[in-house]
Amino acid sequence: MRERLLELQVQALAEIEKVDALEELETWRVGYLGKKGELSGVLRTMGTLSVEERPLVGQIANDVRAELETAYQTREKSLQIAAMRKREAKETIDVTLPGRKSWLGAEHPLHKVIRRIEDIFLGFGFTVEEGPEVELDYYNFEALNLPKDHPARDMQDTFYITEEILMRTHTSPMQARMLAERYPATDIRMIVPGRVYRRDDDDATHSHAFMQVEGLVVGHGVRMSDLKGMLLQFAREMFGEDQEVRLRPSFFPFTEPSAELDIRCIYCGGSGCRTCKQTGFIEILGCGMIHPNVLQMQGYDARELSGFAFGMGVERIAMLMYRVEDIRQFYQNDVRLLEQFATLTR
Ligand code: DAH
Repeated sequence: MRERLLELQVQALAEIEKVDALEELETWRVGYLGKKGELSGVLRTMGTLSVEERPLVGQIANDVRAELETAYQTREKSLQIAAMRKREAKETIDVTLPGRKSWLGAEHPLHKVIRRIEDIFLGFGFTVEEGPEVELDYYNFEALNLPKDHPARDMQDTFYITEEILMRTHTSPMQARMLAERYPATDIRMIVPGRVYRRDDDDATHSHAFMQVEGLVVGHGVRMSDLKGMLLQFAREMFGEDQEVRLRPSFFPFTEPSAELDIRCIYCGGSGCRTCKQTGFIEILGCGMIHPNVLQMQGYDARELSGFAFGMGVERIAMLMYRVEDIRQFYQNDVRLLEQFATLTR
């Protein structure tokens, strides 16, 4: 039996030398050291030995087991290391590959302009409001003194969703909405930036969707001179300290009197050029004193309260400020265009 044990040891150690995979090693372990393995098989016949022989053979059996276990552990470790090396070899990174270029984003020029306008009016104590782009016919037209059959509606053909619901053609419906919401207000100063829609064929200067900023001031004794003074200050902060403005009579159904505000041409300074069509001035917004009907429709007494309103096109101002000649460039989101604005501070 002693010989059998030693033979087993020699055989097991010879075999483990040839094992070169972890799965094979497990088969080896089960075969020699497992419960039903060779070593256990030999030990199961211990009963046939004499009482004197048993401890001696037991000792040898333990030595063999210890020997095989050590061999097992050593082999296991070296196989694990080999497996890891193999994995590492497959996973190496080629640091000489060229990297991917990552683009740095830039604020969209239209947002830049809106943010500037907001900053200026926040400085005047205005609030910034937002309204729905899908609007009721009532707010978009009727509440602005544009009844259903009014010819001035032709100026603003839009996308209808139903007879009574449409895409707003301007931000002016927020005048009526805020008058209603804040009733009975005695002091409103707000601007409303937002997208508006017109049924227009897109070209270099027209878009079926564009941005406006509406302004509304309501209070006791608000006069046209307040409108002009405030818009002059706005123009100076927006376009330069030495700006001059002029009001030209115009017509809007929701203001009376109505006007358009021109600034002195920012390119030629007033001497006349292609951009200002030799007039020396450029129109930037429509404005006027709120029509008494607009106040009355929301329950206000137009003899008590007055106010003014204005509305400007953001694209138009952005095109002037940044010398963009085609409005469609704002909507193509060409990174090369946007990048040109990344470093501009205004
Ligand atoms: N809503 C007008 C438009 O889209 C612009 C406008 C003109 C707004 C006069 C006003 C205003 O608030 O008083 O053409």
